[in-house]
Amino acid sequence: RCTSNLKYSLCWKSSKTQKICWFCNNAKVAVLGASGGIGQPLSLLLKNSPLVGELSLFDIAHTPGVAADLSHIETRAHVTGYMGPDQLNAALKGCDVVVIPAGVPRKPGMTRDDLFNTNATIVATLADAVARNCPEAMICIIANPVNSTIPITSEVMKKYGVYNPNRVFGVTTLDIVRANAFVAELKGLDPARVNVPVIGGHAGKTIIPLISQATPKVEFPADQLSALTARIQDAGTEVVKAKAGAGSATLSMAYAGARFTFSVLDAMNGKEGVVECAYVRSEETECKYFSTPLLLGKHGIEKNLGLGKLSAFEENLVADAIGELKGSIKKGEDFVANMK
Ligand SMILES: NC(=O)c1ccc[n+]([C@@H]2O[C@H](COP(=O)([O-])OP(=O)(O)OC[C@H]3O[C@@H](n4cnc5c(N)ncnc54)[C@H](O)[C@@H]3O)[C@@H](O)[C@H]2O)c1
Repeated sequence: RCTSNLKYSLCWKSSKTQKICWFCNNAKVAVLGASGGIGQPLSLLLKNSPLVGELSLFDIAHTPGVAADLSHIETRAHVTGYMGPDQLNAALKGCDVVVIPAGVPRKPGMTRDDLFNTNATIVATLADAVARNCPEAMICIIANPVNSTIPITSEVMKKYGVYNPNRVFGVTTLDIVRANAFVAELKGLDPARVNVPVIGGHAGKTIIPLISQATPKVEFPADQLSALTARIQDAGTEVVKAKAGAGSATLSMAYAGARFTFSVLDAMNGKEGVVECAYVRSEETECKYFSTPLLLGKHGIEKNLGLGKLSAFEENLVADAIGELKGSIKKGEDFVANMK
């Protein structure tokens, strides 16, 4: 991909363990659902990154405007807008990473599963296009219900014989971001230095923060730990309520989606030791899909780092989540099996 022929000689990040040529950081990234509440700020953050060479923005509405607007920013990512089903194939050709925030968000009183009927079809249609146009791309799904949209994406890729479980991610990063922010607030720490793994899935009680594994180490009395865990699990609903019908988390999700995409790109570029939690095909529990910390590499998941040592409280949370997760996974798989 290097157009400079200089390879590493002008590398801006060179070190003994990490060699990345600025000219080689030329990834083509697509955002599907780019005109939405998440899509627009996410595209802005991607446009602002030196890791992105080409930014391909697809939506069923408004992408010419969003792309024209972003293209005036003085960063080097080349932005192109694609609108409507006729332009979907063109949007995806040659993409290295595809991020999918397309789909309807929650309104007050709705669960993420209430979005299934609308978003399952949208995600299946988009996954079908990815399978046909850029089957080797890293696929990062933001559209809810994530617990079902990842099985849907995987089954669609299988239909084309191009499924690679190391490259299909359910983006749960917002749960980690929230856990870091809330723990830092309670303990008076710098949130940039806090890391709380969050495992399981991305809905209600399937969101399992592992406070016992937080760094730096933090301790809470039992009642405070329960309240903190519940707040992390319900944080999305906190935003849905505060927005009072105007949608769900968009700005914090754009931040989290960008963080995850940059980690995937960094790892693809050869950076070592990149770890993110994400909801992926997994052998770590009896659920086919489960989120745990993952070591990322050039080809996606390099190693699943597993659940680690859980406290008794966290073991109960995992046991409590399994039933719901299995149901959501089956619902996604059945949807694809019954698709015409
Ligand atoms: N993973 C997470 O942590 C997380 C967090 C917040 C929201 N979400 C989910 O992200 C999704 C998007 O949320 P939002 O607030 O941006 O919604 P939004 O309604 O503001 O934007 C959705 C965008 O998707 C587009 N779209 C619809 N159908 C499409 C299709 N077939 N192809 C391409 N684009 C299409 C719409 O035109 C719109 O621009 C929702 O499903 C929401 O539940 C996930």
